[in-house]
Amino acid sequence: MADTLNYDKFVYSEFNDPERDQLLYGHFPDNFTWAVATASYQVEGAWNEDGKGLSIWDTFTHQPNHIYKNHNGDVACDSYHKIAEDIDILKDLGVTHYRFSLSWPRILPDGTVDNINNAGIDYYNRLIDALIAANIQPMVTLYHWDLPQSLQDIGGWSNDILAVYFNLYAELCFEKFGDRVKTWITLNEPYIAARMGHEMGVHAPGLRHQGTTIYRVGHTMLKAHAKAWHSYNTIYRPDQKGSIGITLVGFWGEPASDSDEDRAAADRYVQFMLGWFAHPIFIGDYPDVMKEQILKKSRAQGLTSSRLPSFTEEEINLIRGTSDFIGLNYYTTQLVRHAETETLPVGFLEDQDQVAWYNESWPKTGVPWLRPVPWGFRKIMNWIKMNYDNPPIIITENGVAEFSDGKEQLLNDTWRIQYITSHVNEMLKAHHKDGVDVRGYTAWSLTDSFEWTAGYAYRFGLYYMNADDPIRKRIPKASVDSFSEIIRNNGFLL
Ligand code: NOJ
Repeated sequence: MADTLNYDKFVYSEFNDPERDQLLYGHFPDNFTWAVATASYQVEGAWNEDGKGLSIWDTFTHQPNHIYKNHNGDVACDSYHKIAEDIDILKDLGVTHYRFSLSWPRILPDGTVDNINNAGIDYYNRLIDALIAANIQPMVTLYHWDLPQSLQDIGGWSNDILAVYFNLYAELCFEKFGDRVKTWITLNEPYIAARMGHEMGVHAPGLRHQGTTIYRVGHTMLKAHAKAWHSYNTIYRPDQKGSIGITLVGFWGEPASDSDEDRAAADRYVQFMLGWFAHPIFIGDYPDVMKEQILKKSRAQGLTSSRLPSFTEEEINLIRGTSDFIGLNYYTTQLVRHAETETLPVGFLEDQDQVAWYNESWPKTGVPWLRPVPWGFRKIMNWIKMNYDNPPIIITENGVAEFSDGKEQLLNDTWRIQYITSHVNEMLKAHHKDGVDVRGYTAWSLTDSFEWTAGYAYRFGLYYMNADDPIRKRIPKASVDSFSEIIRNNGFLL
């Protein structure tokens, strides 16, 4: 392996390391978590089998023109019927953990505990038992976006009551699976669910409510997360002795210049994406800059109060301190500069007064929004360390995709090898040089799968899978060997 990692000089840096481009040799602590991830709607298929209820993603994908080529997750990777195959490839990879999500409507078809689908519980029991028999620990996400449609019918996450329903669902999962599941994640990327689903309208439930619903959705999700954390902490943790956190997406925002304005704009970028959820959980309440910006923008629109809801004292106390670790999904970095916008109606991005884009010299990938910027990974970890007093971090996703909507097999993914190698190495630097408390790394994703709006066109898998292939064979790409080697060495050997 080359000793020099090939990535660009950055514009401005708080953590300027003269050895930034050098590969660091060394290994992670002995109990480091090495994982790979999937999510229920993206892989399971069996959308209407064995008593499963409808999710908002079933509804959304079955309507025309929402998804690339009208693809859907009806069959996906057929993981519902392929537990043995998936365990085999997980064993080949050599991961210590498998991160997957539970489909809420597979367990509770109408979203409520009044109606439990035992076939759904059986499926997850079989999966968990098979993992443990293979000496792979389950890391389970309770909510990865496939909300029961019947809960959307009463307003979805913009209705406060969802926090109560989510908590009851979470308690049932702790009760049924918590004897074997020791790492729980409440919600996956509430930022994306709120913004893409309720403002941009490109994810289920497909709402385009500019700058309004998005904040209520985030508010309910925070309460839902906190309630589930408390249930686990008080009722289940004493016996089950696991840990429970939340997974947040954090792209790094790099100031486009070292002017105070651009530096503040770049900080807002991270605050609006990661701080929106992390700040209430790790500090209590929304970041000040979010409160100020949204109030200012709401007033400019002629509103008398902020579109961002406020927490009661009781809610702040409910939410503060409710994550045993921060699950971080990191994919990319953007350059950010200050820019005031007056456009009405004011949406989420306008609330931030900034423009974010990519440095054209950063390499392109098969995904327009994803430019590999490994040093941004180290910076966002440092940002978390500094802002939240060095909490344990588990990287719950990191990965890159090819674009291919055809049947060709893209197996020689040398640039995925480069992506994973360089990102894991930045994580090693964050750990060894900066003292970041990072406990695990999860590659996204096990197989090519249903990539939301992009259908099956963006291929994030370490294993190739073709949705036109009736048997959905999993075929290893070249990156499988290289990721396995990193796992075996628990880092990088000299
Ligand atoms: C984050 C999401 O959690 C996951 O579902 C998605 O496939 C990846 N990003 C890649 O876009």
